[in-house]
Amino acid sequence: MMRTATGIAVVTGAGSGIGRAVAVELSSRSITVIAVGRREDALRETAKLAQGRVCVVSTDVGDPSEYRKILSEIDREGGKVRYVVHAAGVSIIEPLRRITPESWRRAMATNLDGRLFLTLHLLPRLEKGSRILFVGSNSATRPRKSSTSYCVSKAGSYMLQECLKMELSGEGILVTSAIPSPVHTALLEDQMAADPEVFPDALEYRREQREGRLISPWTVGRFYRWLLAEVPDDEYSARQWNIQDNSHHRFWLGNDDLFRP
Ligand SMILES: NC(=O)c1ccc[n+]([C@@H]2O[C@H](COP(=O)([O-])OP(=O)(O)OC[C@H]3O[C@@H](n4cnc5c(N)ncnc54)[C@H](OP(=O)(O)O)[C@@H]3O)[C@@H](O)[C@H]2O)c1
Repeated sequence: MMRTATGIAVVTGAGSGIGRAVAVELSSRSITVIAVGRREDALRETAKLAQGRVCVVSTDVGDPSEYRKILSEIDREGGKVRYVVHAAGVSIIEPLRRITPESWRRAMATNLDGRLFLTLHLLPRLEKGSRILFVGSNSATRPRKSSTSYCVSKAGSYMLQECLKMELSGEGILVTSAIPSPVHTALLEDQMAADPEVFPDALEYRREQREGRLISPWTVGRFYRWLLAEVPDDEYSARQWNIQDNSHHRFWLGNDDLFRP
């Protein structure tokens, strides 16, 4: 049975790429989106692209002292959150010996700490049936040269969602993660532009681009909207989802091509 999609969604990283596409997709389903990111102009651009209501909150997800801005916006919009999408992320490409405490902390604060502490701050506003979605990554299980902080933060993020899934299931709050890769976004552009001597995986991404095998963020937006708004409760948290798994394509992609926007 199709779920009725209404309520509030908090989407981080909503100023570009995957977060922007999810925000726009959810807003088209009468869901009020609280769009979170650091660049206010980028978030306003997302709001302009959306058909529905998108509230802009310029916030660093790695800084819990800023979360009151998000909570106030939620309370202004009615107080209860139905969906949380953790999309904010940074990829810092640096050789192992160049990692500094500052660069390490920035990666962890954005990619891992923010996902935990923002979730904890939102819990009082989540109710039975609310859904949390982590943007997953192959880098959680695949080591990449000069990408240690990214890979470690993504591995931590995977285990964080597993722990949240276990702890919150008793309260009827559903948690899962979904791998979207490889998605043609600013983050991937930076990875493709990197010196292959430093970051050899740049060559793999460039080859995938040449072969037309990069996925549009708008396609990921459709996938995530389906997951959040239409997948039944008992299936939602039952596994880690992967956009490349074609067993679910007929439900949200139809006859369209995964690699064509
Ligand atoms: N592209 C891929 O192939 C791929 C594959 C697997 C997973 N992912 C994951 O997907 C997520 C979205 O990335 P993307 O590919 O869509 O790249 P993107 O366009 O660069 O999006 C990343 C977003 O995160 C926001 N952000 C970064 N640091 C932040 C902070 N401290 N606080 C709040 N927002 C912050 C950025 O906006 P501001 O700079 O304005 O804050 C930006 O809008 C990331 O977690 C990434 O690791 C991407």
